Amino acid sequence: MTTVYLNGEFIPKERAMISVEDRGFIFGDGIYEVVRVIDGRIFEWGLHAARLKYGIAGIRIALDASAIDGLKAVCERLVNDNGLADGEATVYMQVSRGAAPRTHYFPPAGTAPTVYAAASRFVVPRDQRDSGVKAITAPDIRWLRCDLKTVNLLGAVLGRQAAAEAGAYEAILLRDGVVTEGAATNVFGVVDGVVRTHPLGNLILPGITRAVVVALMRENNIALVETPITHDELRRASELMLVGTTTDVTGVVLLDGKPVGAGAPGPMTLRLQALLDARLYAAVGAGR
Ligand code: PDD
Repeated sequence: MTTVYLNGEFIPKERAMISVEDRGFIFGDGIYEVVRVIDGRIFEWGLHAARLKYGIAGIRIALDASAIDGLKAVCERLVNDNGLADGEATVYMQVSRGAAPRTHYFPPAGTAPTVYAAASRFVVPRDQRDSGVKAITAPDIRWLRCDLKTVNLLGAVLGRQAAAEAGAYEAILLRDGVVTEGAATNVFGVVDGVVRTHPLGNLILPGITRAVVVALMRENNIALVETPITHDELRRASELMLVGTTTDVTGVVLLDGKPVGAGAPGPMTLRLQALLDARLYAAVGAGR
């Protein structure tokens, strides 16, 4: 039996109910977060909590910072109660503006936000990481606040579906002739021997894995230039990488049906993958 968290209660998934008037359902009016848990330890909780606070403040949902901090214990209990304290798991959290009769403007003050969280077993896709993945390019049709992790994910849903229909893992999104990010990952590339990624700002999600990889590069004196990769540069990149909570660092070996570099994960991909692995599994010894 799966136990989930909903509005202060730990209950069986089958009994977790939300109103048909919930603004998450009606408007996609909410913020979510996905954390990685390894042997019961949440990876980079502080960064995830800070991003959740930024998103919730960004769309003006009335939920205290202390309630967000309290979600750490909720995640830990979900992991324990669902028998996920050993090995790998993820926890999904979502905060919506709550349930109220449908108006585009905000509901009456005092409408309680809906807070939901659920833990699942995570199986690291090692084959995919070791051999690399296929990706396609797709237009970035999302809105202009991609820095907010809202549950409105249609741009990502349609991008990932186009990728799935092409037998690919990810859609690499292009806006105004440059790569922004993947549908559910940040994108790094090696162009003319230099590692590049889109700078932070309103056009990409400030990925936690991106932040960790950037910090690891700095610690290891690996140069990074945070300027967007253009469509032309994308075609001649010697390496492309997807980074994210459930993707780690994964090389793209085929883009729109053409090999990237040598058609296998390149040296920088392997290096960043190893550095991230060391950080992910640092507190649990060999880990895997
Ligand atoms: N997606 N960019 C987008 C658009 C994302 O949705 C995600 C994460 C990332 C990577 O961020 P992070 O390293 O914090 O996971 C980048 C999550 C995993 C999801 O939607 O399931």
